Amino acid sequence: MDGRSEQVREYLSDVYGKPVEVIRIAGMGAEPGEAELKGFGYGRPYVIDFILEGRVRSVVLSSMRVQKGFGHDTFADRAAQMLWSNAAFNTLPRHVRSIDAGYFTKDGRLKSAGDADEFFILMERVSGIEYYRDLDRIKESGFFSGLDVERAVALSDYLVYIHQQKHDDRALWDRRVRELVGSGECIMGLADSYPDGFAYYSRDDFERMEKACVAWRWKLKPRYERLCVVHGDFHPWNILFRNGPDFTLLDRSRGEYGEAADDVSCMSLNYLFYSLQKYGRLDGEFKELWDRFMENYLVRSGDFAMLQIIQPFYAFRALVVASPLWYPTLDAEVRVKLFNFIDNVLAAGEFDYKDVNRYLKKAGRR
Ligand SMILES: Nc1ncnc2c1ncn2[C@@H]1O[C@H](COP(=O)(O)OP(=O)(O)OP(=O)(O)O)[C@@H](O)[C@H]1O
Ligand SMILES: [Mg+2]
Repeated sequence: MDGRSEQVREYLSDVYGKPVEVIRIAGMGAEPGEAELKGFGYGRPYVIDFILEGRVRSVVLSSMRVQKGFGHDTFADRAAQMLWSNAAFNTLPRHVRSIDAGYFTKDGRLKSAGDADEFFILMERVSGIEYYRDLDRIKESGFFSGLDVERAVALSDYLVYIHQQKHDDRALWDRRVRELVGSGECIMGLADSYPDGFAYYSRDDFERMEKACVAWRWKLKPRYERLCVVHGDFHPWNILFRNGPDFTLLDRSRGEYGEAADDVSCMSLNYLFYSLQKYGRLDGEFKELWDRFMENYLVRSGDFAMLQIIQPFYAFRALVVASPLWYPTLDAEVRVKLFNFIDNVLAAGEFDYKDVNRYLKKAGRR
């Protein structure tokens, strides 16, 4: 029995909990006598005939084609589809029954994942203090030291370093730009998470904002040369600092590669957000952090072109902090300024990082 049949025999015996004898494995639509690949060709259904409790049975094993685009780019995307199919096929009448979902191991074995109820990640425990506690301290006590500047520059340097690593994959770039606007975790998903009749931003405001973001999507799509290594959720709750500027990141999100402005906007928007809560504008210690973080990043990376790209990323991050879901007790004036910021920044061809306060004024939206 060839290696593949043996792996299938082992797997099916595990699924049925009884010994199975494999009779035939053939690609559906396989030409007679067509040579079989070492293992299973991904993306192609296979018929497996086998004997179980003296009766010949037949099942179909199918996996997803490894192809670029359509949101099937990563192994995790395809896993999600298989897990979903295994759950959803059996809830629809007259639909083929799913028996199990599983995965091929790197050495070609078949493993069942059908009894998975919820996935988890197990990671090392990192020591350190969340960075937002530094910003809380600066906001509440005003105690501010050279270490705070050192930490902002260390974060900025880190982004300069990772963003240097470019990656050539147009489909991943298109996906990242598409998801910024349309995914559940980003702009449209956030807009959906706001309560109906939200006082600070009407339904028409959200529609107009989304349309502006769609226009930005078509401006960004041709810039796929910018695809680089990113963190994807570079905010003060995902950074643990130890002594001095030494830190560890948590919670990388939405893909290994993306747009550098995603990370830069995520952190810098938090400096603005804290400053708005303290001063009603970008000022004081938080202006110092903003200036050092942004100046260091732009000068050291040389990526001033980012100032024509960053606008929809700022809109995304501002929609998070302006949300009553995460910040129910935010001062009304701060919320208003955040929506002004969103509208004004989306309307700006070049983002003026040296005069952010100009974007806090009421946009000519009425
Ligand atoms: N590996 C770890 N080591 C130490 N602390 C951790 C670790 N993972 C999480 N934490 C702590 O748990 C908190 C929340 O974790 P995590 O970031 O995974 O949650 P979250 O809900 O995903 O938040 P968000 O998506 O908004 O970042 C972190 O801010 C950190 O304090
Ligand atoms: Mg987190």
